[in-house]
Amino acid sequence: MSSVATPSSVSVPQGSPAAPRTVRVELGARAYDIAIGPGLLGEIGTRIAALRPGARVAIVTDQNVALQHLGMVEAALDAAGIGFSTVIVAPGEGSKSYAGLQQVAEGLIAARVERRDLVLALGGGVVGDLAGFAAAVVRRGVDVVQAPTTLLSQVDSSVGGKTGINSPQGKNLVGAFHQPVLVVADTAALDTLPARELRAGYAEVAKYGLLGDEKLFGWLEGAWRGILSGDGDRVEAVAASCAAKAAIVARDETETGDRALLNLGHTFGHALEAGAGFSQRLLHGEAVSIGMCLAFAYSARLGLCSGQDAVRAQRHLEAVGLPTRIADVPGELPDTDGLMTLIAQDKKVSRGALTFILARGIGAAFVAKDVDAASVRAFLEEMRAA
Ligand code: GLY
Repeated sequence: MSSVATPSSVSVPQGSPAAPRTVRVELGARAYDIAIGPGLLGEIGTRIAALRPGARVAIVTDQNVALQHLGMVEAALDAAGIGFSTVIVAPGEGSKSYAGLQQVAEGLIAARVERRDLVLALGGGVVGDLAGFAAAVVRRGVDVVQAPTTLLSQVDSSVGGKTGINSPQGKNLVGAFHQPVLVVADTAALDTLPARELRAGYAEVAKYGLLGDEKLFGWLEGAWRGILSGDGDRVEAVAASCAAKAAIVARDETETGDRALLNLGHTFGHALEAGAGFSQRLLHGEAVSIGMCLAFAYSARLGLCSGQDAVRAQRHLEAVGLPTRIADVPGELPDTDGLMTLIAQDKKVSRGALTFILARGIGAAFVAKDVDAASVRAFLEEMRAA
């Protein structure tokens, strides 16, 4: 562990550096645990058997994750006496489609999954969203266990119940809220991730500090190396992130208010991601990193937070090795009007006003519903040149 105090948001006992943590998502009758720690995929059978005795499991995963982790999960289910079937989809965003949904739904029906059985989503955000949505609709709803294997999915997409697929008209436009009954985040699974993907996932960890917890952000400034290299601080960081998200989801499950805070950096970020063609040129977390820097710089410009806060946010993300400026995106991007069109498509525009997540300081984000589009355009024009 680093010598810096751990974040206050994690109210769990401090044990050995790699001791597993449990974070509870308090949603009344639909409350569930997020178990976090190294090696947890190896004991997932025991957890599932305790949660739902006698249930069968339908594993949904992709070809890459199957090579890395499927053997261990199947052995763990076998050891616990759990019968299982497996659906394997192609890796990548293309599977989050009507065709991908058809493959998974038909696979679950062919495996005779019944309503008391469980779907086990084993993989990153694509598998979690796709398998979660298939579980939400097959037989009018089968419970899902999320077993996220990327940092981004461990700290964000596996928690909170957003599931879905992409429409040809836009990302995540077809979906459902379908909370998991258990999340198992094996932090050792992150050891096999490419460094760039791990860093991109880290942007979402930093987001929780930037949006609502200055103490967490201060801790991350000292602990990020260990989090990326995989020491005990990684478990702590995933737990702190999940605790932050769980608290927000518990008070606004379906995003009628505070849950929008989780979109810090996403309005600018989505426009850049779309402008780069949702390609390897700019990963989602990298776009969020630039987007968060822009949101803080814009907040400083409006006099909402200090320039030092904006610089502090940017310095940290830069130190981690994340892109922080529009100019960091390789290749061509749409011009400023093109980016504004993408922003308008992503978020509601009402009589020239946009909704953004802005900040009054580190850890003090808020939803701003009446941001002047002309002022955002002028700011973006300037930032493109910076
Ligand atoms: N990823 C944002 C949310 O779950 O609301």
